[in-house]
Amino acid sequence: MKRVKIRSAECSDAGGVTSASRSNSSKGRHIRDSWGSRLGIIMAVSGSALGLGNFLRFPAKVASNGGGAFMIPYFVSLFLLGIPLMWIEWTLGRYGGGFEHSSAPGIFHSIWQKNRFIKYFGVIGIFGPLIIFIYYIYIASWTLAYSFFALFGKYSQALDQATMQSFLRGFQGLERNQYFNGLGCAYLFFLITFLLNIGVIYYGIRRGIERLCKFAMPLLFICALVLMIRVVTLGIPDLARPSWNISNGFGFFWNPDFSALKSARVWLEAAGQIFFTLSVGIGVILTYASYLSRGDDVALSGLTAASTNEFAEVILGGSIIIPAAFVFFGPLDIQSIARSGVFNLGFVTMPLVLNKLPLAEMFGFLWFFLLFLAGITSSVSLAQPAVAFLEDEFNINRRKAVLIFGIGSFILCHAAILFLKNGVVDELDFWGGTFFLVLFATIEVILFAWIFGMENAWDEIHKGADMRVPRIYKFIIKYITPLFLFFILGMWFWQEWVSIILMKNVSLANRPFILGTRIGIVSIFLILALLVKIAWRQKRIQAERIR
Ligand code: PFF
Repeated sequence: MKRVKIRSAECSDAGGVTSASRSNSSKGRHIRDSWGSRLGIIMAVSGSALGLGNFLRFPAKVASNGGGAFMIPYFVSLFLLGIPLMWIEWTLGRYGGGFEHSSAPGIFHSIWQKNRFIKYFGVIGIFGPLIIFIYYIYIASWTLAYSFFALFGKYSQALDQATMQSFLRGFQGLERNQYFNGLGCAYLFFLITFLLNIGVIYYGIRRGIERLCKFAMPLLFICALVLMIRVVTLGIPDLARPSWNISNGFGFFWNPDFSALKSARVWLEAAGQIFFTLSVGIGVILTYASYLSRGDDVALSGLTAASTNEFAEVILGGSIIIPAAFVFFGPLDIQSIARSGVFNLGFVTMPLVLNKLPLAEMFGFLWFFLLFLAGITSSVSLAQPAVAFLEDEFNINRRKAVLIFGIGSFILCHAAILFLKNGVVDELDFWGGTFFLVLFATIEVILFAWIFGMENAWDEIHKGADMRVPRIYKFIIKYITPLFLFFILGMWFWQEWVSIILMKNVSLANRPFILGTRIGIVSIFLILALLVKIAWRQKRIQAERIR
């Protein structure tokens, strides 16, 4: 792979916006990072995509939305939304990187230089990942804690759902019990996980993120394969109940309930899962791809990263948690288990199941360590857009950018830690992990296919490409993807807008917390928008001085 150094000569930018940053780069104040190898960026994008979403969120969604039938809207969304957006983000990112921009405001500005407002739409590409980061990292820290708990048998005495549930609640600081008396332990693991993340980002793209992913991804696959093989060979643990076997476990997961397809909600959930699992529609891949050089392939690399994620989700993610739980809890309990939520599946049901096996400590550790590796390779990607924004647009070095990000995000994470019981994590997940994903994806596709223009876009995708994208995608990206997205957004507004705004599904006691979260979210957005304004003004002034 050709390395990116300073590519200013290749590109020109309107309004002299990047000329200032170029002059700074050449003065050596801020040197752009780059990927070390093609394998490195593919591993990093796959690492971002492959996360808690694959092993926790996906099985819960399938099991509670019609089993195998869910896979129909899921695959439709993969081909009409996920893969097109993967290509769009890789291409837009590489293009914007040519103008020395690594976050959405600058990348959008390079695409539509005449429009003064487009950079503010790009704010979502920093803000969305930040919102997800705030809670994602906290949940990732639980997996690190549970890896230790598994290894040292801390929950080995919890043999039923109720006890394991109370272990989890104690750990989360929701109740005091014989296992925990406060948030101290969870907070300690949060600190460790947070510092690990900051450490990786501090070392940058090549020496930090790429190195982590090159080591973590193979390890993650090994853990997942071992667990999958263990689950598939479970046999019939309870001979009195021969129907509680692994093939019926898979049957429960995959047997289609086609009536689910009539529900708009199921389609929304499937589309949301595709965005979340592929990490597209939020700005993270834009940032990663901006460190490519102009002649690097995006078509095959994007497809490879998406396929790796889908293999891990559908084959590995689909073969562990639900089939294993079925074998031990049977067809009746599994219904309520599947619907009881992502956390219960991962932190209550799965350790219980593994507790019943020989070598319980080792399998428990493998499960939670797998989740931890999946989590950390995703959380570092969520931090990078904000760090890159500070580095590029304010021309500060990475050390300072990471420090500012570290302090700011550390404070914000406390909302998730302290107010978990008040629904703050769910609220952040709705806005960051669902709503803004779809909104931002819509903006990206319009910008790409309609503003940049489909002919330009098609040429740009194929620059340095190692494969031809099937021609049908020209039509899909131009018409189908945006229409599908408009449809999803429209349905959302129509079905849920009023009840969401009025907090109809929120208990009275939690309303102040949810309102506080929303005020916080709006404030973060406004602060970032203001920073964009200041950065562009500074650059204009600098550019005028140089002229
Ligand atoms: N794709 C990650 C997962 O499946 O857990 C989550 C995620 C990471 C979503 C990065 C969005 C993102 F930008």
